[in-house]
Amino acid sequence: MEIKNICCIGAGYVGGPTMSVIASQCPHLRITVVDSNPERIDAWNGPDLNKLPIYEPGLAEVVAEARGRNLFFSKDIDRAILEADMIFISVNTPTKTYGKGKGMAADLKFVESCARQIAAVATSDKIVVEKSTIPVRTASSIKNILTQADGGQSGGQSGGQAGGQAGGRTGRGINFHVLSNPEFLSEGTAVQDLLKPDRVLIGGDNEEAIQALTAIYAHWVPAERIITTNLWSAELSKLTANAFLAQRVSSINAISELCEATGADVDEVARAVGADSRIGPKFLKASVGFGGSCFQKDILNLVYIARSYQLHAVADYWEQVILLNRHQRRRFADKIVRTLYDTVSGKKIAFLGWAFKKDTNDSRESAAIYVADALLAEEAEITVYDPKVSPERIYADLDALGSRSPEENRRLLKIEKDPYDTMKGAYAIAVLTEWDEFKMYDWPRVYQNMQKPAFVFDGRRLLDAQKMESIGFDYYAIGGGSPQDL
Ligand code: NAD
Ligand code: UGA
Repeated sequence: MEIKNICCIGAGYVGGPTMSVIASQCPHLRITVVDSNPERIDAWNGPDLNKLPIYEPGLAEVVAEARGRNLFFSKDIDRAILEADMIFISVNTPTKTYGKGKGMAADLKFVESCARQIAAVATSDKIVVEKSTIPVRTASSIKNILTQADGGQSGGQSGGQAGGQAGGRTGRGINFHVLSNPEFLSEGTAVQDLLKPDRVLIGGDNEEAIQALTAIYAHWVPAERIITTNLWSAELSKLTANAFLAQRVSSINAISELCEATGADVDEVARAVGADSRIGPKFLKASVGFGGSCFQKDILNLVYIARSYQLHAVADYWEQVILLNRHQRRRFADKIVRTLYDTVSGKKIAFLGWAFKKDTNDSRESAAIYVADALLAEEAEITVYDPKVSPERIYADLDALGSRSPEENRRLLKIEKDPYDTMKGAYAIAVLTEWDEFKMYDWPRVYQNMQKPAFVFDGRRLLDAQKMESIGFDYYAIGGGSPQDL
């Protein structure tokens, strides 16, 4: 199976960077990224590389190198499918908001519509690669749709043996092979993660198809980092990896509350614990809570799957990771209200950051949204500054909660372009995202222009506690250890 043409359906945070890096590393491949959202495709094709639809350090350079050479962004989905030897499905798989599994299960309607479109359009053999994060055993549904949409036969049975066949021939004689190739990139470091991945995971049941995909990654990824497994192991490994990562954050966040109660310093505890080589130092930074489009969604999905197999102890165990995260966001907001003499009504609170982490313009499930919602319920007047998240996105995040009318959200929450204007006259500052630039501010100037006492609630442990205290701030860092908490 020689691959020359690749199509990727979904030009989002995964499809865009992933295909850009493959195109840059494999100039002999022609890669077309398509999306049902025409504005997104226009933005990928736009002349100003600083205005790509997603912000990722280093991405503009990679796109500049490959776009128009062997990387194309197109609205013509049918044509890209028709011409491709290999098709990546990289569409969104959000938590269901309706029907059975509402609020827990992954919504697979976008994945299914891709499979149906491929089945309807294809006239030659294809390798179909699941890049989206999906529930374990989705490959068998995809294969069924691909092969039976025109009355053909699947190569295996849906719900059959573990690692069972995920290929088949359609009534029109087309061969489809389904592979699972989950993506492990993190936003903000996507390009580096793709260029130097810890591992690439390929699950499948057809050796030739696995080899075809392996050969692409082998252009820049060392062979020992390319792991092959059966389909169901690859699908489940992705959910498990995210669950383990989120669990570490919830674990250290649980300890952060204990640190505040006891006078311990969570960074010191994390350093001491992480020095154990069996535990390791990464992902032990206490915070106002993890966000992002995937941790919560994927754990809810894992919990749902476990419950659907009647594995209630397993489901309860993983659900705690989510519950602790919600508690962490909530207690941060409560701490602000309590410290501001039990009322924030009519008080200006300045938010530094809205993105769910630094170096991204993505704010999906950001802790900032939930902290803002809790403070707005107390009639606080919030002003937000984020270097990359757009005002439209911020209001859309709040409106989506449905806690109050869009007009009310716009009346109570303002967005500023200048950080000093954001903090001027504020009763308190809340640091929600760990953007590096926040460390560089002229903090004595900020202090001068605030109401007194001037409170800072650092949900990222970003600022220098002693320096802030010496300027005069009442500084509170999540996880204790600052003079204020002792
Ligand atoms: P996204 O919402 O940014 O992008 C998905 C794109 O798919 C959208 O632009 C949407 O318009 C398009 N789309 C949906 N249905 C379509 C269809 N039928 N035809 C054509 N286009 C369609 O999502 P994302 O963040 O890129 O995530 C995609 C998948 O990758 C998800 O399953 C997610 O869990 C997984 N993932 C995400 C990340 C991440 O960092 N964001 C990392 C690893 C894995
Ligand atoms: C995460 C995983 O790290 C990726 O491997 C995975 O591919 C991706 O989810 C996905 O499936 O979408 P991402 O959400 O982009 O990546 O970012 P992370 O760096 O994992 O951070 C997630 C959240 O946890 C952020 O809000 C971050 O601030 C928070 N976090 C992370 C902490 O609070 N403390 C830490 O020590 C680490």
